[in-house]
Amino acid sequence: EAGVDREKFLKDPGVYGTFAVFQVDEEWWKLDKAAKVAAVSEVKAIFQKHSDALIADTYLLRGLVEKADVLVRIHSLEILTNQNFLIDFMGTALGQHLKNTYTFNGLTKALNYVPGMSEDLKIALKTQTDPGPKPYAIIVPIRKDAEWWNAGQDVRTAMMKEHTEATVPYLKTVKRKLYHASGLDDVDFITYFETAKLDDFNNLIIALEKVKENRHNKQFGAPTLLGTIRPLDEILAILSH
Ligand code: HEM
Repeated sequence: EAGVDREKFLKDPGVYGTFAVFQVDEEWWKLDKAAKVAAVSEVKAIFQKHSDALIADTYLLRGLVEKADVLVRIHSLEILTNQNFLIDFMGTALGQHLKNTYTFNGLTKALNYVPGMSEDLKIALKTQTDPGPKPYAIIVPIRKDAEWWNAGQDVRTAMMKEHTEATVPYLKTVKRKLYHASGLDDVDFITYFETAKLDDFNNLIIALEKVKENRHNKQFGAPTLLGTIRPLDEILAILSH
């Protein structure tokens, strides 16, 4: 079996991302060990079953975000594929104890503004993040105002240039991914970040709050989701403890 090319799915335009957040109910914790263990192996089988068509990354939010214990980020070439996986997942014995508290849908697209930026900035943007583990993930949904969408391409490019200049000091420690969500969700963008340095991320956000483009953010976060990137097996072990 071929499976999916993870690197390609995480890099290419035209990939659909679904972020599904779940909260474990009170009843789950009261189940006996055997029932939890059986439920957990059922979940592993569902992830395995769908692994040829999609990639599913798992995050632990429990303790860091209210009304959220687990996040699954799914990438595939069709929203339908993401949906079919989630239906199977929610149909498991564990799934029956999960409340789906947030979901965001978006897709990756070709760069809109970078082609209009200076060569210096384009070169800076080629900076790779430092190697090594980045245990934290942050998701910030964003909605722009009508003025933003009504401004010309050149006006928006100028503001995005300012946005990008403010981020250059953080290219080495903050890895990012952008999803376009207008029409597929109530927000315009889902922004996703990975880092080992939450203090850098905090400073990055403050730097971005100072640029003009930020005046056009009608929604920023609400919710902001903060979690640790963990393999499925580790999350399931914590839940079946
Ligand atoms: C778009 C750079 C962090 C929100 C962009 C673009 C660049 C960029 C180059 C334009 C992409 C294009 O050409 O289409 C960066 C870098 C970051 C960073 C290098 C950090 C290392 C952030 C953060 C947020 C954010 C922290 C908000 C939480 C956005 C949004 C867009 C965007 C919403 C899309 C704007 C649009 O298409 O209208 N960013 N960014 N970025 N960025 Fe950032």
